[in-house]
Amino acid sequence: MININSKVFIAGHNGMLGSSIFRELKKKGYKNIITINKKKLDLRNQNAVRMFFKKKKPDAVIIAAAKVGGIKANIHYPANFINDNLQIQTNIISSSHSNNVKKLILFGSSCIYPKSIKKPIKESQIMSGVLESTNESYAIAKIAGIKMIESFNRQYNTNYLCLMPCNLFGPNDNYDTKNSHFLPALIKKIYSASKKKGKNKVVKLWGTGKPKREVLHVDEVANACEFFLKKKIKKTIINIGSPIEMTIKNYASLIRKKIDPKVLIKFNNDKKLDGVMRKKLNLSLANSYGWKSKMNFMRVLDEVIEDYINTHR
Ligand SMILES: NC(=O)c1ccc[n+]([C@@H]2O[C@H](COP(=O)([O-])OP(=O)(O)OC[C@H]3O[C@@H](n4cnc5c(N)ncnc54)[C@H](OP(=O)(O)O)[C@@H]3O)[C@@H](O)[C@H]2O)c1
Repeated sequence: MININSKVFIAGHNGMLGSSIFRELKKKGYKNIITINKKKLDLRNQNAVRMFFKKKKPDAVIIAAAKVGGIKANIHYPANFINDNLQIQTNIISSSHSNNVKKLILFGSSCIYPKSIKKPIKESQIMSGVLESTNESYAIAKIAGIKMIESFNRQYNTNYLCLMPCNLFGPNDNYDTKNSHFLPALIKKIYSASKKKGKNKVVKLWGTGKPKREVLHVDEVANACEFFLKKKIKKTIINIGSPIEMTIKNYASLIRKKIDPKVLIKFNNDKKLDGVMRKKLNLSLANSYGWKSKMNFMRVLDEVIEDYINTHR
């Protein structure tokens, strides 16, 4: 099985999750971590990926490379989301198989489960209903990745796994106005409103503020990734989340209190920008294997806000 002497390839090691996994493996003493920058290897290029695997011969592969974005990016660039993710996953999974990779971890997301299903969501509910239209292309690509690893496991007895995290936040998050997820977007928007004077301290947020979101610090997912990397298990999908779930409105008020209580929050009430109303994950499968989030939400939120303010003064 995989241990600290195994050769582990982290695809996407510069991203938010990939860089956290890199730090976690280093901390745990892994001696043979393989990485490569996107400029040197575009993972959409099938031939280049094949050559890379043939040369490097990794024992384990973690797919943290993906085309990722918030609700507006998903609405405006569906072709990029389906095309890039299908290509990246397919190239890496098939090259992993032809090079006898012992363990592979792909990342899905809580947002690829159908929109109107019973909550908290169990892994078995994948493909049990209609998808959220705003990120359908992304979800279809990710579901194809899951079905691909499920098929390889069945046909070739491989040990490939998909971890399904909830909304993440933490170091190296994307704060781009058009492309970010909800939590970094709240921090950025509330902080810029706090810089204004008097009555201008107003922040306009998308949607109604009513959808609920479950959040987890990215380092916890990296910890789960290393935990499951060493395990041989029969399941193909495992949810990774936390007990922290609030409405967007509540997250916004909490962040406002921490940054500047004088900021006034207004929602544009555009229901199209709400996305799914709730997507709480059922975490009993991960718990049954012995993994549980240890996150102190208030402490890590403080750290993330402080880090953002220090780098954007
Ligand atoms: N962030 C979340 O809240 C969240 C929640 C649930 C699941 N996930 C899953 O976690 C995984 C990682 O997400 P993330 O938030 O860490 O994303 P991220 O910060 O955008 O990182 C993605 C990485 O993939 C790389 N990449 C993209 N296209 C590539 C290509 N064609 N060739 C080589 N590298 C490429 C990017 O490189 P460049 O930076 O150079 O483009 C980047 O380093 C994704 O599968 C996502 O679905 C994320």
